[in-house]
Amino acid sequence: MALERTLSIIKPDAVKKNVIGQILARFEGAGLKVVAARMAQLSRAEAEGFYAVHKERPFFNALVEFMISGPVMIQVLEGEGAILKNRELMGATNPKEAAPGTIRADFAESIDANAVHGSDAAETAAVEIAYFFRTTEVVSH
Ligand code: TYD
Repeated sequence: MALERTLSIIKPDAVKKNVIGQILARFEGAGLKVVAARMAQLSRAEAEGFYAVHKERPFFNALVEFMISGPVMIQVLEGEGAILKNRELMGATNPKEAAPGTIRADFAESIDANAVHGSDAAETAAVEIAYFFRTTEVVSH
């Protein structure tokens, strides 16, 4: 397996629940390292740009409203097979379908407020990391 980086966002619902630390602990417990991180209040333009791939979907406006409804924590995770590992830790998009013990099963309420984002492939991970971090802000350790 290759050493990968992936973009992870702890969404406004999970920040409001004050479970940032519990979520980061799951990443670390699975062997992923936090190699960049910052809190942010996304602007509408930033959220629209980040989710541009979903622009034509019926849930796009609600998704953008949700993502700007409060602060988020954005981080880059690094590790062997980090992209898939993070997706496994997150669980299915709809928390009602997420496997027990996953972040979404434990912390998310609904498909539109589902606690975390994680890149779904190597190409999107590279684009999403560059969307939020300069190369000098990502520090392997
Ligand atoms: P998607 O990329 O399909 O899921 P994931 O976050 O698991 O990669 O969708 C992006 C986000 O859009 C998803 O996390 C929540 C929102 N969304 C909805 O609000 N309703 C929906 O029906 C879908 C599919 C997604």
